[in-house]
Amino acid sequence: MRLTRAAYAACAAPLALAATQLSIPSPSSKTTVYPNFLGISFELSFVGNYFGNSTDAIPAPFLAYLSNLASASPSTPLRLRIGGNSMDDSTYVPSQTNPLLNFTNPQANANDQPVTFGPPLFELFSKVAGEVSGGAQYLIGLSLRYPNDTNMPVLAGAAQSGLGNYMDAFLLGNEPDLYTSHGQRPNLQNYTVNDYIGDYWVATENLENTPAGNILNNHNIAGPTICCDWDLDAVLTSGWQGNFSDDLKYITLQHYPQNNCFGSYQYQLNYYLNHTNVKTLASWQSQGIQAAAKPVVMSEFNSASCGGIPGISDTFGAAMWTADYALQMASVGYSAAYLHTREPGISYNLFEAPSSNASSGWTTMPPYYSLLLVSTALGLNGTGANGTLVQDLELGDASQAGYAVYNAVSRDVLSLVLFNYQNASAAQFALPQDVFPSGSENVTVKVLSAPTVTEGYKVSWGNETLYQVGDGKLVAAGSEGLQGGGELTVDCSGGGGCNVSVPGPGVAVVYPGEVLARPGGTGKSDAVSLRASAWAVVLGLGSAVLGMI
Ligand SMILES: *[C@@H]1O[C@H](CO)[C@@H](O)[C@H](O)[C@H]1NC(C)=O
Ligand SMILES: *[C@@H]1O[C@H](CO)[C@@H](O)[C@H](O)[C@H]1NC(C)=O
Ligand SMILES: *[C@@H]1O[C@H](CO)[C@@H](O)[C@H](O)[C@H]1NC(C)=O
Ligand SMILES: *[C@@H]1O[C@H](CO)[C@@H](O)[C@H](O)[C@H]1NC(C)=O
Ligand SMILES: *[C@@H]1O[C@H](CO)[C@@H](O)[C@H](O)[C@H]1NC(C)=O
Ligand SMILES: *[C@@H]1O[C@H](CO)[C@@H](O)[C@H](O)[C@H]1NC(C)=O
Ligand SMILES: *[C@@H]1O[C@H](CO)[C@@H](O)[C@H](O)[C@H]1NC(C)=O
Ligand SMILES: *[C@@H]1O[C@H](CO)[C@@H](O)[C@H](O)[C@H]1NC(C)=O
Ligand SMILES: *[C@@H]1O[C@H](CO)[C@@H](O)[C@H](O)[C@H]1NC(C)=O
Ligand SMILES: *[C@@H]1O[C@H](CO)[C@@H](O)[C@H](O)[C@H]1NC(C)=O
Ligand SMILES: *[C@@H]1O[C@H](CO)[C@@H](O)[C@H](O)[C@H]1NC(C)=O
Ligand SMILES: *[C@@H]1O[C@H](CO)[C@@H](O)[C@H](O)[C@H]1NC(C)=O
Repeated sequence: MRLTRAAYAACAAPLALAATQLSIPSPSSKTTVYPNFLGISFELSFVGNYFGNSTDAIPAPFLAYLSNLASASPSTPLRLRIGGNSMDDSTYVPSQTNPLLNFTNPQANANDQPVTFGPPLFELFSKVAGEVSGGAQYLIGLSLRYPNDTNMPVLAGAAQSGLGNYMDAFLLGNEPDLYTSHGQRPNLQNYTVNDYIGDYWVATENLENTPAGNILNNHNIAGPTICCDWDLDAVLTSGWQGNFSDDLKYITLQHYPQNNCFGSYQYQLNYYLNHTNVKTLASWQSQGIQAAAKPVVMSEFNSASCGGIPGISDTFGAAMWTADYALQMASVGYSAAYLHTREPGISYNLFEAPSSNASSGWTTMPPYYSLLLVSTALGLNGTGANGTLVQDLELGDASQAGYAVYNAVSRDVLSLVLFNYQNASAAQFALPQDVFPSGSENVTVKVLSAPTVTEGYKVSWGNETLYQVGDGKLVAAGSEGLQGGGELTVDCSGGGGCNVSVPGPGVAVVYPGEVLARPGGTGKSDAVSLRASAWAVVLGLGSAVLGMI
């Protein structure tokens, strides 16, 4: 039968009401992750725009942005990474006290601006880490462009002694699989993994003798930080992993789904609003990830390399994608991931700094909210302190995604994260009875939402937002004229579980118990807990609800 438009609409209507039935398996992931899973990567040349240009002029909004993340994951230090092409191309000058960063070749490619810097940079990084509750830890890039470079060990020593406990690991070499195509090994037709191993021997031996002593004694080197052309499994099994296993702390990768380096690109926004594509992307290097003997870290990623794509990277859709991809990485063996940010004006940035060091005037971009959501999902109220396991719930509909987050020790479910990529219509998710440990039958649903997937600013997280807020401090969404996705307690104590509604587009974090006041807030009495009726309908689910598993 050829359906008329009206007949089609009549058939389609009941389906729209069907809830996606969630089934919560035992976790199969073997990788424990912490609430600080999703960190921020900064391109070296532009740290002054965010951290400020001296310890006396750290922009308060930047500290507020970091503190929001820290309060969502109080038990683990924030992850910050300083690196990128520009770090590989820059020089440490022990005598340089001012400026913080000296741009030595302003004519250089915008994607790779070399600078010189001195000890004040590490004083600044330490001060910022100390200002954030729970602290921060840094990944610091070290160049491998000239393996026998005498500057590299001097920089490593300065970073190690300057950062102390705030030092996490050194990323030795940035994307060496691009050295050939970027012309960084002009004498070699093809820079190979064997060449790389030789270079690693030279560079690590030089790290035995730095102003801070033998850096290798700290066992905090990371690599191979490949992005594109090499196979991780081949690098690991080439002898590299075995040769340097005593030095290595992390196995690092950097990967973008596409690039915008040459003025054209492959995928439109729809690509990012599709969970199937997220899974495919996260399966990159899966064999190597299995072969890794150290925690695997995505030390740089974002929606598109070379600055992102205006109209895609700066949308709410990209924020949803970032959260989905981060949780997917957590479920397939990554231990951490760092979302990259660059100079003001770049479309994938988390926040836009004003052109001067004013204490206000910052603009929050959608991807920032993904970090808040992921740290909350992985550790709300300190519950993730002992680590969590993340599991894809395999909903089987690319316009939706679901994850369960478990306590890694007890395997109790700590939260569910539910994605609805649809641009206009809410989705119902049916929670089975007893998802969470007994005694916590009521659940709270905290929603990240925006009016449309293309929205750039009007984003709310629970009942709060950073829309039109210049100082990085969350305010009530209502006061900025936003509806707010909400943060509501739902009675899930009925025999058949309950339904949770997630607006389209939107992402919900569902956690046991009543609405929590924000850390630093005025306490639980502020929170409003509603009966289920308005938001979710308690159903005798059983076989009555159409499953979509
Ligand atoms: C801006 O930076 C200058 C120079 O670093 C400093 O003197 C001034 O106090 C800063 N202003 C603010 C508002 O931070
Ligand atoms: C900054 O770099 C430029 C170009 O290399 C150089 O001429 C200048 O002396 C440097 N300034 C400082 C303060 O190091
Ligand atoms: C590295 O530099 C030192 C000092 O110049 C030199 O003795 C050594 O042979 C060089 N090593 C390599 C592998 O080029
Ligand atoms: C270069 O070497 C890599 C392995 O290191 C290999 O995968 C690639 O095919 C080689 N390319 C050429 C053009 O020989
Ligand atoms: C490096 O790894 C290769 C391959 O596993 C091995 O043959 C070689 O002995 C190792 N070299 C050192 C110095 O450990
Ligand atoms: C730091 O200096 C750079 C270069 O002069 C400038 O663009 C940036 O706005 C400064 N950062 C702050 C926070 O003022
Ligand atoms: C973490 O583990 C310790 C020791 O087993 C336990 O006492 C504590 O309650 C756990 N904390 C959380 C948040 O699970
Ligand atoms: C999601 O992407 C896959 C593969 O790219 C495609 O086959 C599928 O139709 C897409 N689904 C939706 C809902 O866009
Ligand atoms: C989402 O919905 C808005 C408002 O209806 C519309 O303008 C926009 O084109 C839609 N975007 C996509 C990617 O479907
Ligand atoms: C669930 O919420 C309802 C309504 O707020 C409340 O009466 C009930 O005591 C709560 N149940 C639990 C186990 O907290
Ligand atoms: C969030 O906003 C909704 C709608 O305005 C309201 O019903 C609810 O009580 C608020 N929740 C909190 C935690 O403030
Ligand atoms: C949050 O944590 C505090 C301290 O551990 C605890 O007293 C409170 O019951 C927790 N709230 C929820 C909703 O789990």
